[in-house]
Amino acid sequence: MNVLVTGGMGYIGSHTCIQLLQANITPIIFDNLYNSKASVTSRLHEVTGQELAFVKGDIRDKELLVSTMRQYNIDAVIHFAGLKAVGESVQKPLEYYDNNVNGTLVLVDAMREAGVNSLIFSSSATVYGDPHTVPITEDFPTSATNPYGRSKLMVEECLTDFQKANPDWSITLLRYFNPVGSHQSGRLGEDPQGIPNNLMPFVAQVAVGRREYLSVFGDDYATPDGTGVRDYIHVMDLADGHIAALTKVGDRSGLHTFNLGTGNGSSVLDMVKAFEQASGKSIAYKIAPRRAGDIAECWADPAKAEKELGWKATRSLQQMTQDTWRWQSENPNGYPE
Ligand code: NAD
Ligand code: UD1
Repeated sequence: MNVLVTGGMGYIGSHTCIQLLQANITPIIFDNLYNSKASVTSRLHEVTGQELAFVKGDIRDKELLVSTMRQYNIDAVIHFAGLKAVGESVQKPLEYYDNNVNGTLVLVDAMREAGVNSLIFSSSATVYGDPHTVPITEDFPTSATNPYGRSKLMVEECLTDFQKANPDWSITLLRYFNPVGSHQSGRLGEDPQGIPNNLMPFVAQVAVGRREYLSVFGDDYATPDGTGVRDYIHVMDLADGHIAALTKVGDRSGLHTFNLGTGNGSSVLDMVKAFEQASGKSIAYKIAPRRAGDIAECWADPAKAEKELGWKATRSLQQMTQDTWRWQSENPNGYPE
C-alpha cells in the first residue's frame, strides 16, 4: 500500500513514517518545509535503512497533489500538514484558516480527482474546548476558543458533510491528546522553532541549558497539586495509532472518530519530576500566572480506539521523558540546517 503523508517531515508525521515502513506500507512525504528541515529525510534513512520519497510542495497546490498521487499510485492519505501554534493563530487567523481549512479542502478535491478515497486527519483534543468532566469520550460536545482550534473543528465539520455526501469514502478523525517523546534512537524528535509553546520541549530546553527556567502557568487549578493536568502520549504510540486506523478502518467506508490518548492525566509538576529523573538534571521553575485559554484538566477515555482499532498506548511516562532527553541531549539545537 502507498500512502501520501502530508506534513510527513514534521514531528508526528516523521515518526509515523517509521511505523508505516515497519508495517510494510510505503510512505510518500508531501511537505512544504514551512516548519521542518530537509535533513529529516537523512535521519529517516538512517533509522529505517530505506530511502523515502519526498515531494516538496504545498497542500494548496492541487495540480501538484494530483500528479503526485497519480505518479505514486496512492491508496490513502494521512494528513498532518498544517499550522499548530495557538498563540500565533490569534495573531494570524487568516494564515491558519488558509493553511488548515482551505488546505484540507484542496487536498480532498485533489484526492477526488486522483480517485483516492481514504483519508486520515490529524485533529486535536482542543475540539473538546473546556470539557465539563474527564475522561473525555468521543461523543462529548465540541467547541473552540481560538482560531487554531476553530480550524480543526471546521475541518472536522467539512469532512463530516463531505463524507455524508460521498458515502463510499473512508474518513477518520484522530483526536490527539498531548504528543511528547521521540524515536528511541535519539535521531528523530520534536524540533520547535523559537521559544517552545508546549511544556515538554520547554522543559527539555531548560534541562539542556538553552532556557533558564520553566514558568509553570498557574498552581491554583482544582487539580491534585494545583497545576494543569494533561494526557501525555508517546509519539510512537500515536504513530502506531495511525497504522491501526489505516489498517482497521482505512478501507471501510464511513466517518470514524477516535481519541488517541493514554487515559492517564499528569500534572505539570509530575512532568517536571519525571523529566528530572530521566535526565538526572534539576529543572528550575517558577510559578507564573495562568496562561489565557488554558483549562484545568484534559484527558482521554481511549476505550473506543482499543475496542475498534485494537490499539492502546503502551509506553510509560518514563519512556516519554527518557526518549525526549536522549533526543534533546544528543541534538541540543535540533536538526541540522
Ligand atoms: P509539525 O509542525 O511538526 O508538522 C507539520 C508539517 O506540515 C511541517 O513539516 C510543515 O512544514 C508542514 N506543513 C505546514 N503547512 C503546510 C502546507 N500548507 N503544505 C505542505 N506542508 C505543510 O506539527 P506536528 O506536531 O507534527 O503536528 C502534525 C499535525 O497534528 C498538525 O495538523 C497539528 O495541528 C496536529 N496536532 C498536533 C498536536 C501536537 O501537540 N503536536 C496535537 C494535536 C494535533
Ligand atoms: C496546547 C494547545 C492546544 C493544542 C496542544 C497540542 C494552548 C492553550 N493549547 O495544549 O490547543 O492542541 O497544545 O499542541 O496553547 N505549561 C506550563 N509552562 C509552559 C508550557 C505549558 O506550565 O511553558 C502547562 C500548561 O499550562 C498546561 C500544560 O503545561 O497545563 C501543557 O501545556 P501544552 O504543552 O502547551 O499543551 P496544552 O495546553 O494541553
